[in-house]
Formats: sequence, C-alpha cells, structure tokens
Amino acid sequence: MRTDRTFTMLKPDAVEKGHIGAILEKINASGFRIVAMKLTQMTTADAKEFYAVHRERPFYGELVEYMTRGPIVAAILEKENAVEDFRTLIGATNPADAAEGTIRKLYAASIGENAVHGSDSDENAAIESAFHFAGREMF
Ligand code: CMP
Repeated sequence: MRTDRTFTMLKPDAVEKGHIGAILEKINASGFRIVAMKLTQMTTADAKEFYAVHRERPFYGELVEYMTRGPIVAAILEKENAVEDFRTLIGATNPADAAEGTIRKLYAASIGENAVHGSDSDENAAIESAFHFAGREMF
C-alpha cells in the first residue's frame, strides 16, 4: 500500500464561493504534487456510494444533498506522508475546531459544509482515487 498519495475534493460550497484558486495555491505551497484533477459533479448514486460508511448517520441525507448540489474539484495529491499531512493542512472536520491557517478555518462555513475532503487512511485514499479517476487520468 503506497503512503505518498491522498484523495481530495473541493466541495460544492468551496466551488460556489470561488475558492478553487486559493485552495489549490495552499495545496501547492504545502508541497503536494497534483497527480490527477477534474471539475465534476457527483450524482446522487455516486454520493450515496462514496459516503456509504455514513449511511446510518442522521446527517447522511443532508450530506448527499450537499455533495450533489453543484460541481466539485476532485484531485489526487502526492507527497511523503500524504494522508496525515493533508489532514493537518485542512484542519478539523468542524471549522470551529480547526487550527488557524488551515483550509477549513479559512474557507469552511460549518461542520456539514466544510469546504474540502481529505482521505482518512492510505487504503481509503486508493479506494476514493479509483472511484473518481481511471488509471490513464493519473500522471
Ligand atoms: P468529511 O469528513 O470530508 O466526510 C464526511 C462528511 O460528513 C464531513 O466531511 C461533513 O461534510 C459531513 N459531516 C460530518 N459530521 C457532520 C455533522 N455532524 N452534521 C452534518 N454533516 C456532517
């Protein structure tokens, strides 16, 4: 299992507010190489599958609505210790708890609309990357 890649989505709220450029700038400045990237929109079936682990949670329906309401930027990022370092860069799930300077502190509105996704393990990074990208789209 490789440890130098993670998967991210700039979520619909970040795209709607025009934060794509600023967030990508921070990602690049933090030493991540972009391996794959696209502007895309998840279908309801996509979002239900992507977030299946949360299907029993009370916020599941709201999460699926949110993640499908507009385009996202999906990307695969490469850096040594990618999963952990990217989660440090984005900050806590709830922006109220996120450290100063993190992407969620700067750009997220709430625990539900939290601007950006970061894989929580190397295994999920591989699964989530394959969900959004074919091998020929990775560079
Ligand atoms: P993320 O951690 O990227 O993936 C799961 C998502 O579910 C999370 O971001 C939020 O967008 C959402 N989420 C997590 N907890 C809550 C909550 N308590 N209420 C609403 N949405 C949540």
